[in-house]
Amino acid sequence: MKERFWEMVSEAARDEAQAAAFYQDMANIALCEALSRSIEEIRQDELEHQAFFESLLCAREERDRKDDCRGKWEKKMVHGRPLRIPEVPEPYPPIRVECPNPEYARLLFDDYAGMVSEMTAINQYLFHHYDMPEQFAEVAELLEGVSIVEMRHMEMLAELIKLLGQPPMYMDGQGRFWDASYVSYLPGHPCEQLQSDIEAEKAAIQTYRQHIEMIDDRYIKAILARIVKDEQLHLRLFTKAYQRYCKCYG
Ligand SMILES: [Fe+2]
Ligand SMILES: [Fe+2]
Repeated sequence: MKERFWEMVSEAARDEAQAAAFYQDMANIALCEALSRSIEEIRQDELEHQAFFESLLCAREERDRKDDCRGKWEKKMVHGRPLRIPEVPEPYPPIRVECPNPEYARLLFDDYAGMVSEMTAINQYLFHHYDMPEQFAEVAELLEGVSIVEMRHMEMLAELIKLLGQPPMYMDGQGRFWDASYVSYLPGHPCEQLQSDIEAEKAAIQTYRQHIEMIDDRYIKAILARIVKDEQLHLRLFTKAYQRYCKCYG
């Protein structure tokens, strides 16, 4: 009986996420601005319901396995030390696709391990994290946290590529393997590194938006739109760090 209840809570969370994605599509093509705003309000309600069901699941998991479901912005213990994970406090939509599609897989391969990709971002931010001087310790920590979020994005893209019918090897949509020269290293230049990280986030947002336009699959669209929200947060955090540390420095 209890198990069935928890299954139903999971189902409800998934259904609410789907409904929210559906209303998003509907709002985008609404016949007038007022209608679009009303549909957007309905979507916000669905997101609240989704968050409620997910909070129940989290509370249950937390009872069994503490820590995991804490607020995204709290420091989490990573390898024995506290680290802030910069992702927006909104659950990721369920990972699913309407049907296999090699053309969509090709587009996602570019986001996955192309030149402007999650794979490049992870490696660039980690290198900058290793290379930051002592007085930039806060920035070094931010870079490490952001690279962990990019790993989560990469994992979601890998799952989508698999569902679309392709093995998620580290290559772009043209079949070119990922290359370590895609990383903008700039060793010893923390402000230029931060500047290139800002540019990387801007480029990621732009590419994801193009792919949202090109992909006609509501599940994939919702996932990419959710990833864009994290990238916008990263862009704000990197920009703030640049203003704080580099205005007088660089
Ligand atoms: Fe990302
Ligand atoms: Fe990012």
